[in-house]
Parts: sequence; C-alpha cells; structure tokens
Amino acid sequence: MPDVASVTVTPLSPVLGARMDGIDLHRPLDEAAFAVVHDAFLRHQVLCFPGQHLSADDQIRFCGYFGRADSDYKAPASQLAPADRTRADYRKGVMLVTNVRKDGVPIGNLPDGDMQFHSDGAHRPNPYLATTLYGIRVPREGGDTLFANLYAAHDALPPSMKERIEGLRVHNVYLLDATDAAEFDADDPRMRHAVHPLVRVHPETGRRALYVNRLMSRWIEDMDRAEGEALVAELVAVSERPELVYAHKWTQGDFLIWDNRCVNHARSDFTPDEVRLLRRYTISDAA
Ligand code: SIN
Repeated sequence: MPDVASVTVTPLSPVLGARMDGIDLHRPLDEAAFAVVHDAFLRHQVLCFPGQHLSADDQIRFCGYFGRADSDYKAPASQLAPADRTRADYRKGVMLVTNVRKDGVPIGNLPDGDMQFHSDGAHRPNPYLATTLYGIRVPREGGDTLFANLYAAHDALPPSMKERIEGLRVHNVYLLDATDAAEFDADDPRMRHAVHPLVRVHPETGRRALYVNRLMSRWIEDMDRAEGEALVAELVAVSERPELVYAHKWTQGDFLIWDNRCVNHARSDFTPDEVRLLRRYTISDAA
C-alpha cells in the first residue's frame, strides 16, 4: 500500500497531464491512495505512472477502481484464430496495440503509423469513460501518444461560437482499426455510429468540453449536411491547436490513464523496424 504522504504529482505540460511517483500499481490501492489518484485524474486529465511492472490482472484491478473495467473482446485486425493470439490477455478483454506480427499478420490492433485525434468509443452510445495504456516495448523514436485538452478547446471558442454550438449534437462514425477518417465511408449503414452533445458537460467536474474529433466526427444533427460538416471541421481545427496538445514520449514501464470525457488522443508516426507493444484496457461507467 503506498504511503499517501510520499506520493508526488508533477505536471507534465502547461496544458494537461501529470506524472505520479510513489505508487506501485502492482499492489492494490486503499481508499486514501485512490482518492489521491482520482483527484489528480480529474484535475490533470491524463496521468502517467512511470516504472511500473504490471500484469493484465493488475491493469484490470486498477481500471475497476474508476468504474466498470471493460471485458468485451476486441477483435484484432488480423482476425487470427484465438489460439494464435497472445496468451491469456485477449480472454480478459485486453487489447494489444502493437506492430508485432506473427507470420506476417498483426497479433493486436492499430499496428502501424500515425493515428488521427479521437476519443475512445465516441462512435458508441456509451463511450468509454477512460482508457489505460501500459508501455511494454516502446520505440526509441516516434510513436508518441498526443493528448488534446477539450476543456481548453471549449474555453478557446469565441462567445458567439459557444452560444451557437450549445445544445447541438454531433454524428460520430468509426470502423475498428481505422487510423484515418479517409479509410472508411461514414455513409455506409454498416458503420458503427452514435450521436452525442457537441458540448459535453463533464459529470464529475461540471466543466464544458468540446466533444469533437477528426477521426470520427462528421456532421451535425438537424443541420444542413454541408453546413454541419463545415462546422465540425472548424471545431476540429480548434481542438487540435498545438498549444492545447501534449505529446507523451513513451518510456518502457509507463502506465497511462486518460479521461475520454475531456481529452482527445492521437499517435505520431514511428518506424516499422522497432517494436511497439502497449497493453490497452478501457473503463466504462459502472452499470
Ligand atoms: C489508441 O488510440 O488507442 C492508441 C494510441 C497509441 O497507440 O498511442
């Protein structure tokens, strides 16, 4: 059990994120320790716990403190037979984000290259509350995970735009494993699709976040299609302003959690010659 007094919280950037030292997540957290973590999570939106040695069970236990640790099976891009996937992790609903291949076929999801900004599950009726990623093998260069502060994006809008978008709803569409909006046809009726408020009031902080992203958000409910697409494009550009973004350079053993209700994330490119292997687990609202 960590001694709460020895835990330190250090901001990672002026825009969002904090590093938490003094907590070994291989061990269960007591109520006092979780209160410190939860408070930092709400204040900083992204937390990094460096130097961790975590099993899938450790990661799942940590997720369970925040809500319902998700257990739905995430189909890997490769559609490999279950026996050919990686150990027991998939059976626990853990998703591997990796470029590792077996016989030329990816063993996990989102294998290569950069990825546009998005919020996990924004294309589902119940988006994920938070996502965790654990760095098992990380490249020396690139493959950063970028985080954009959606509270700050809403704050940055002029008052007239804030007034215009309050109460509007945005259509989000996504095809599993796509890393770029150009990879799928948003009008294809088979695509997973959900409509959400464009201005999302965070249920715990009460703050307003601009809930829009480049990969999934397409048009506005009850608005002329072209007008809605133009509005989405304008808002997406605001949400990606460089001064609102923090780029996390991974070190092996980093464990990250971020709040999908007020943060978008993306990925920078990396060389296929180096292994990138991260273990991802999501958290939903407790039922
Ligand atoms: C993701 O979007 O879940 C993956 C992010 C990453 O690979 O850095």
